[in-house]
Amino acid sequence: MRYLETFSTGYGALPPRANPATDAARLSLNGTWRFRLTPTADTPADFADPAFSDSGWDEIAVPSHWPLQRRDGSWGNPIYTNVRYPIPVDPPYVPTENPTGDHRLTFDLPGGWPGGDALLRFEGIDSCGRIWLNGTELGVTFGSRLPSEFAVGHLLRPTGNVLAVRVHQWSAGTYVEDQDMWWLPGIFRDVTLLARPDGGLTDVRVHAGYDHRTGLGTLRVDTVEGAVLTCPELGLSAAPAGFAIELPVTPWTAETPHLYRVEVATGAERAVVAVGFRTVVIEDGLFKVNGRAVLFRGVNRHEFDPDHGRVVSEELMRTDLVLMKQHNINAVRASHYPPHPRFLDLCDELGMWVIDECDLETHGFGENDWRRNPTADPAWRDALVDRAVRMVARDRNHPSIVMWSLGNEAGVGDNLGHMAAAIRALDDTRPLHYEGDRECRHTDVYSRMYADHAEVELIGRGEEPPLDDPELDARRRAMPFLQCEYAHAMGNGPGGLHEYQQLFERYDRLHGGFVWEWIDHGIRSRTADGREFHAYGGDFGEELHDGNFICDGLVFPDRTPSPGLLEYKKVIEPVRITEAGPGAFTVANRHDFADLTGLTLCWTYEIGGIEHAAGELPCPQLAAGESATVALPVAEVPGAGGGALTESAAAGESWWTLRAVLAADTAWAGAGHEIAWGQWPAVDASVVNGVEAAGSALDEAEAGFGAPRAARFDERGRLMELGGIGLVAPRIDLWRAPTDNDTHALAAQWRHAGLHRVHERTIDVIADRDALLVRTRVAPAATDAGLLVTYRWSEAGDVLRLQLDITPDGVWTVPLPRLGLRLGLPAGYDQVEWFGRGPGEGYADTRLATRVGRFTSTVDAMQTPYVYPQENGSRLDVRWANVTDATGAGLRIDGRSPFQFTARRWTSEQLDAARHLTDLVPGAHVWVNVDLAQHGIGSNSCGPAVLPGHELHAAPAAFTVVFTPLR
Ligand code: GAL
Repeated sequence: MRYLETFSTGYGALPPRANPATDAARLSLNGTWRFRLTPTADTPADFADPAFSDSGWDEIAVPSHWPLQRRDGSWGNPIYTNVRYPIPVDPPYVPTENPTGDHRLTFDLPGGWPGGDALLRFEGIDSCGRIWLNGTELGVTFGSRLPSEFAVGHLLRPTGNVLAVRVHQWSAGTYVEDQDMWWLPGIFRDVTLLARPDGGLTDVRVHAGYDHRTGLGTLRVDTVEGAVLTCPELGLSAAPAGFAIELPVTPWTAETPHLYRVEVATGAERAVVAVGFRTVVIEDGLFKVNGRAVLFRGVNRHEFDPDHGRVVSEELMRTDLVLMKQHNINAVRASHYPPHPRFLDLCDELGMWVIDECDLETHGFGENDWRRNPTADPAWRDALVDRAVRMVARDRNHPSIVMWSLGNEAGVGDNLGHMAAAIRALDDTRPLHYEGDRECRHTDVYSRMYADHAEVELIGRGEEPPLDDPELDARRRAMPFLQCEYAHAMGNGPGGLHEYQQLFERYDRLHGGFVWEWIDHGIRSRTADGREFHAYGGDFGEELHDGNFICDGLVFPDRTPSPGLLEYKKVIEPVRITEAGPGAFTVANRHDFADLTGLTLCWTYEIGGIEHAAGELPCPQLAAGESATVALPVAEVPGAGGGALTESAAAGESWWTLRAVLAADTAWAGAGHEIAWGQWPAVDASVVNGVEAAGSALDEAEAGFGAPRAARFDERGRLMELGGIGLVAPRIDLWRAPTDNDTHALAAQWRHAGLHRVHERTIDVIADRDALLVRTRVAPAATDAGLLVTYRWSEAGDVLRLQLDITPDGVWTVPLPRLGLRLGLPAGYDQVEWFGRGPGEGYADTRLATRVGRFTSTVDAMQTPYVYPQENGSRLDVRWANVTDATGAGLRIDGRSPFQFTARRWTSEQLDAARHLTDLVPGAHVWVNVDLAQHGIGSNSCGPAVLPGHELHAAPAAFTVVFTPLR
């Protein structure tokens, strides 16, 4: 059997170990190498010979994925499949057409390089690498996201060393690396030469526990005989390693990531390890760190760079973590493989709970009824255990890692048990996770993905349906629960986050979850005419692919936060600020460990969206879990019980906004960074509505329908012009470009029902002195379901009022995407100001991140650039909106009740037809939707549909809108 088609672990590598930073010489071999791509695995390995001339070869960057190094396809292309293998399922065999990249580097040792032992370390080769140094074969690696080290001291020469690496895209390893991501071969992580001094530190194993009852930490470092520990901060000076030392410490938590720099030294080598003291236990059915239950506000993170695939720079790793911290995220599941080792250093430093997951997924066997699944086939046992051991050996010194995961979606089988046993033997201080076995045979926590709210609630109560085996059932029922994946963040959404969070906070057994997923893996590409877009499955002509399912993250490929991330930040905010009756508010500290030192409260009092007073308050110093009620600064605020209600105050709603911000800079955000906020109306809503209506809209008594008019209607009673602005007449609109969360089930029903092709039949048009009455029936072909609509137009001066009455007719069996009015203005009316929720988009079930205020934007800036075009950009609870040109001329739209507002340069139909953002071409109009409502968002692209409370159904409806020309 050929080496790439065996069930083996590879050969030649040294036993796995941690690789701490030491003062021993090291040489990065990253850089420009020589490269040759061949279409099969069998080209003679002539290039391993140092005498071979590679002068005719191309150059390639290492680390890299070769298909991304040449974007013309001449080095192959990325392939995206989620579950299905892009090769026949025939383990351990792989196709004869097996892109094979020969990599070659000639290097000299730097001056002063010590002789003696040395290691060549590869942090990651996808999927199988065969390695030679100076003509001698070192071995073969499997385990793309795991390191391999080879002893090379005896082979090194001062100059002209030739390192040759042959990398196969497909290998037996492919079968156990079926993660939902791009298939991208290459030497994609660092290559380093490490000098190993005689008497140096071979492996370093740190044990650092914390006893929350005594406040004492226990430190033990296992390494070579004779090593000593030094840490001035801990009062340690040349203490012998290998013994447990008890001493008072500041513990490490993700919220308070206190690290001690401990030097571990022998006469020959000195390492500095970052030690965090913490103890993880499962106790009373709860997942506890340092004695306290922890709530994961997590995300699943793949490694991804839009230009370089899974080659991620340290800067990008830090960017990810900083963004997460800034958005209140406290946990990362390293889905679905051990991340680049630097990422874990940064998690230790910045503070993040991490589930480190083994590089194992065999999901595609599920397409074949799990026949020959590697986790159940004894032939794979050693290879899978090897993967688990390499992960733990590399990563166990990181305080941030609080759980090991056996892998993802790999079915069930005995090999999982063997992996679990091997992990426990190496490290019994962290619980084990694996979602794929519902019976939790080998795990310490109960984990699910995409369980809907109702199921999560049952689990929270401990009332989930029993397993067949009573013993396993009792075991599982005693376990803490988490959702290792939930709230599929594909496109617009996810909806329903808030309802999940309420459950997580209500039931102790529920330890939160990890949103799927952090990043959209769109690959930055260009159209033929040079415009940039992000490519997804199918864009590279793959014969099998899963389309844009690869773009389901909380940040866009360029790391711009999506509205979903802003919503998540608000939903999981660790400080909650709520109204507490007149003149007061409550601050609740929902951290698990941190107190509120370091936060300041900023308040504003706004009337009609205009700030009338603002200031700062000290934040009450609350320990984790505590709350306190604080008085509002009423005396300083006009109209809020303090000064007199001024005339302008009378003209608008007044709102309190309280924000908790960082008082000083931290490692991940500057002073002033907002952590949490609360907002509530300062005046009784009934007063507000009266004030608003009087201040802005049309006085009914004056309204009529006489000449001369600012408005021009056609013979069918359609509004063609107002105040000199030519309009595409307002008409009833039911359609939205389906979101990814609509797409799977609902959009098909909508299309079947014809909601994307409704027409309006005029029943009659009656004009008299009071009003213009237009009655229509709005319906698609082929169905008897429709809406009976009455438009009642009246005017006073320039001001035009529309009262709409809508009654469903026939039988409606599907919810409506939206219900409202659509009108078109000339393209120059592209500036928007509104009073309502903002600044960002919101929908019925994704509204928490928006606040009431007065906002200005442009039509272009109001679009959310989801990689796959879909409904976006709606603003909620809009009281009024001005749509104007650069001079301020245009249209003001007032709602008698708040409306949902959207403006864009293309129609919903054009948005629906687009496949990439570059398909969207501005036209002659700005299209404005004034909606009574839209259907919610949900997360049905992989998870529950819109919750019943956020659905929109055809029902009798009335709403009133007033249009005022602005000049
Ligand atoms: C899960 C899987 C993830 C991803 C997600 C859907 O089943 O674990 O890797 O595929 O579904 O985006």
